[in-house]
Amino acid sequence: MVNIAILGFGTVGSGVYEVLDVNRESITKKTGDEINVKYVLDLREFPGQPVEKVLVHDYDTIVNDSEVDIVVEAMGGTDPAYTYAKKALESGKNYCTSNKELVAKYGPELLELAKKNNKNFLFEASVGGGIPIIRPLNHSLTSDEILEITGILNGTTNFILTKMDREGLDFDTVLKEAQDLGYAERNPEADVEGYDACRKIAILSSLAFGENVNYEDIYTEGITKITDTDFKYAAAMNRSVKLLARCKREDDKFFAMVAPFMVGSEFPLYSVAGVLNGVLVKGNTVGDVMFYGSGAGKLPTASAVVSDVVEAAKHLNTNIMTIWSSKKLELGDKSEAVNSFFVRVGKASEATAKELFGDVEVCSAEGVEGEFAFITAAMKEKDFADKISKIADVKQVIRVQK
Ligand code: HSE
Repeated sequence: MVNIAILGFGTVGSGVYEVLDVNRESITKKTGDEINVKYVLDLREFPGQPVEKVLVHDYDTIVNDSEVDIVVEAMGGTDPAYTYAKKALESGKNYCTSNKELVAKYGPELLELAKKNNKNFLFEASVGGGIPIIRPLNHSLTSDEILEITGILNGTTNFILTKMDREGLDFDTVLKEAQDLGYAERNPEADVEGYDACRKIAILSSLAFGENVNYEDIYTEGITKITDTDFKYAAAMNRSVKLLARCKREDDKFFAMVAPFMVGSEFPLYSVAGVLNGVLVKGNTVGDVMFYGSGAGKLPTASAVVSDVVEAAKHLNTNIMTIWSSKKLELGDKSEAVNSFFVRVGKASEATAKELFGDVEVCSAEGVEGEFAFITAAMKEKDFADKISKIADVKQVIRVQK
């Protein structure tokens, strides 16, 4: 029997308990052993619920119990998760987590600690919820040099943008609806400002390129400035607006960015709608590979966590190699990145815009007047910034996925 302890009995933690219960038979078969939840750690009591029998309130009960093989953390945040992870690995336990903050900040250190102790630090659920993406990067796409990863990695913002697109609503109205439905937090900053997607692409880029990408180095723009007018232009061009998290290798340089992009209907991530997530990986020999599914939610996220539990149970005393060194990966300066841009300026600036940007693609939208909209050719961010600074009444700038 393999004994596990679940830290936190909130949405994900209780989901892990449920998945292990619902799929007990098949999980036992696939693991080759039975997985037993020996403890659940939570501050709360759960009177009358089955979990009551295994509930503890003190982490030391778990780390000091030599029968616990795997600690599963579903609490979020780095404090006390970081301390708990270190204690577990140092006490000879495997550690599985859905916590992207913990992984983005301490991933290389905890992987190193796991290796030193011949244990595993696994985090499939930290990116893309139920979508398998960490293990495919570590184990399946190993024959390839990864050239680029582009993802819709945040369900909340994708829900908001999809609704703005389909129903012609403005950002504030849809955000309120998302909050009422429980898709968006009361404090939605981490999602709508792109910070959540930023941590997730930092994790994926570190795994893809093998060195540590500091999430604080990634240029990040959220979706709060996207308007219903932008979607009118997008619709006229058979495009939509998506929050893309991207990292790419260009020769020996690496670029990463989180920002809203106009995407065309031919782009594989265009049809990733609502709370769903999608990840497009480009390898130098395999070409494009796409992963799609539920990026959040109780059971999808728990499913990914339990897949880590099964993996850990099959390798209780063998470290599964994960290449993510603590050496910092130097990202190329954002100003050197090449993009093309959708721009809206006041009508009075049409001539100046044409003079500055030359041969642009002129855009129009039904019912929108008194402004000039266009898409630039691909150019370095610094050249674009220089030109656009010369126009006084810029209404909008959105990068365009080419
Ligand atoms: N807030 C996140 C999202 C939850 O909306 O995708 C999953 O990480």
